[in-house]
Amino acid sequence: MSISTLSPLHMIDILRKKRDGGALDEREIQFVAGGAADGSIQEAELAAWLMAAWIRGLSRDETRALTLAMRASGVSFKPKNLGKRTVDKHSSGGVGDKTSFLVAPLAAACGVAVPMISGRALGHTGGTLDKLEAIPGYRTALTLEEFEAVIQKCGVSIIGQTDQLAPADRKLYALRDRTATVENPGLICASILSKKLAAGLNGLVLDVKTGSGAFLRKMEDTEFLAALMVATAESAGTQTVALLTDMSQPLGRAAGNWIELVECVELLRGARPEWSEDLRELSLTLAGWMIHLGGKAQTPQAGYALAEAALTDGAGLAAFMKMVDAQGGDVSVFDDMEAFHKPGATLKVDAWESGYVAEMDTTALGWAVQRTGAGREKAGEPGVAQRGGDGSSSLGWEPVDPHAGILFHARRGACVEKGQPFATIYATTEAMLLEPSELLRGAITISANPPEFVPLVGSIITRENAGNYLRNAVD
Ligand code: URA
Repeated sequence: MSISTLSPLHMIDILRKKRDGGALDEREIQFVAGGAADGSIQEAELAAWLMAAWIRGLSRDETRALTLAMRASGVSFKPKNLGKRTVDKHSSGGVGDKTSFLVAPLAAACGVAVPMISGRALGHTGGTLDKLEAIPGYRTALTLEEFEAVIQKCGVSIIGQTDQLAPADRKLYALRDRTATVENPGLICASILSKKLAAGLNGLVLDVKTGSGAFLRKMEDTEFLAALMVATAESAGTQTVALLTDMSQPLGRAAGNWIELVECVELLRGARPEWSEDLRELSLTLAGWMIHLGGKAQTPQAGYALAEAALTDGAGLAAFMKMVDAQGGDVSVFDDMEAFHKPGATLKVDAWESGYVAEMDTTALGWAVQRTGAGREKAGEPGVAQRGGDGSSSLGWEPVDPHAGILFHARRGACVEKGQPFATIYATTEAMLLEPSELLRGAITISANPPEFVPLVGSIITRENAGNYLRNAVD
């Protein structure tokens, strides 16, 4: 008879240890993540642990252990016979942030496999899945077998989180939302990466937002989180880079659902519309890194050139349409994108004074977009009536209005004349036009002087320089 040398673990001991500032070992962290996933640890105990972890902080070792334990709490996506490296992009969210519809097909067109697992609109930020569901028939809830089949066929698939991947995160994230324990770097890192690493990625490009629409406002916090994610993912065997990018105004000119797809398809068709240049530039930069990490370009700059060629010759557009078709979407809606757009109510907002568009409170603009009917305030809350689309929603999220949103006709730094068109608001009903228009006016500062230039891409954090940003780590 063999007697285990490991004594059993008890949640109360783990709670005391973390409460008193102790560092948990791998086994203790696995016990917490496993108990969250299989329901053997009560919500009250998990909530207490989250608060202790939030207040005491998680060391880099604890963060790594939690990430791996949460990844191991479910199945991993292990595609067979792709014969290519797999690379995904994750964005920390924003307003008008629609780069996924460009980077995923562009990287796929350049020979990288892109298994993209995306999220939904929440609060002031939009969601890739809600935007895709504006296409009638597009299925965001695929089985892992179907996911793999679409990637085999098209090189890319964009779906929603499944029940099988990282179930510990599902439980812990919902509790964090209710217990004021969301904003902790270790918990955020483990939450995001457990899902990404469960997708079995060779490479990951992180687009971490800065500025008035960003999740974290202080630059040092943003840099720390980005570096923590890079170091943690690299230590788990996924080559990772983080780009800190500007969200001091919405990205591109559309923020909503269908209207964001329109902006991307125009770019994929080779158009260069005014006010979409930042979207084009950022997408090519991110795609360049994906292509580089996917082993198809020696440098990210060479990857950029390949991505630009795929944009110009229509290969990216073909990959996008092939994916939409393979996932049940009706590609004919892209034949006449204007005719398909049927908002319930429309309001044109003119510039209310002359001058430079000096500041944009992007978070407030995100809320304005949400109030048009395009988003949702809380996870799982009932959305407004959906017109168009097939009404499908995965994982219990209610549909949002695919035709609602805001189109901007001027950007930060533009010089506008009073009375010139500034934005067009598309809402579900006439009554829903007022609040977004008031929020919009309140969020924009027009002044006599132009604003300071903010670069689109700031720091780039890789495994080589991540340590410089982690100096203040709790270790
Ligand atoms: N997104 C996630 O998936 N998890 C977090 O903790 C924060 C953002």
